[in-house]
Amino acid sequence: MAISVRDEGAVRFVRIDRPEKKNALTLAMYDAMTEALAGAQSSEACRVVVIEGHPGVFTAGNDIGDFMQNPPTGEDSAVFRFLLKLVDFEKPVIAAVDGPAVGVGTTLLLHCDIVVASSRAKFSMPFVNLGLVPEGASSLLLPQIAGRATANYWLLTGEPFDAESALRAGLVSHVFSPEEFAASAQKIAEGLAKKPAEALRLSKQLLRAPQRNAVREALSREGELFIARLSSPETLEAFTTFMTRR
Ligand code: COA
Repeated sequence: MAISVRDEGAVRFVRIDRPEKKNALTLAMYDAMTEALAGAQSSEACRVVVIEGHPGVFTAGNDIGDFMQNPPTGEDSAVFRFLLKLVDFEKPVIAAVDGPAVGVGTTLLLHCDIVVASSRAKFSMPFVNLGLVPEGASSLLLPQIAGRATANYWLLTGEPFDAESALRAGLVSHVFSPEEFAASAQKIAEGLAKKPAEALRLSKQLLRAPQRNAVREALSREGELFIARLSSPETLEAFTTFMTRR
């Protein structure tokens, strides 16, 4: 299924598990992640979720072949259902990024509560280069987090940036060496899992409340344009170039 789920104590790890394709996300993988989050929400035992990739790769973003064959068509599509589930998820979510995080691989981080990166993490949102527009509410949240100048630069040029830049911009809270990365992320997760669960839930709710409606509106606004752009000549050309590059 390319998403694997394991529990370690009260921490549920949701691993994007398709390393041979740099963890590119298919429709079935979004569905599996949505299901994993739903299960974590209703599980008494689960207190914290960690979304992780593999050592050396977080995710190359949406699978481009899948984008061509099974494009999202509206808010009932797999990618939207996943993003909405993440937005509404009540327990703390930690994202652990240890390699490239492309497209939705970066924008999903904006909906996680704590984001940690290894020094080899690399972020990019190459939407414009693919003929597309920002998604995942990044047009709203990234300027708020990173400031307008940096958000504009990253979103309009699509240029990749490293973990130190992400730290300076406030997109991640910690950068660890690749050797210390997994244990450090786990330690943060275990620490949160020991906190009073109801206090955590209410605190997360408060932190999100001022933005809740605006995030949903941004997801819809972007989604509509993004879907329309998927069949634009600019995007079809960029996708075809990627698919036939070898
Ligand atoms: N969709 C489909 N397949 C993808 C993919 C994606 N988004 N990203 C990587 N892959 C596949 C490659 O086609 C390749 O498959 P192959 O071995 O069958 O040819 C395999 O994963 C390895 O990718 P490769 O590009 O050789 O790895 P790399 O280490 O040189 O580069 C990335 C890694 C992530 C920088 C690069 O793969 C990339 O830029 N991918 C596209 C990212 C993208 O544009 N995503 C969409 C955002 S909206």
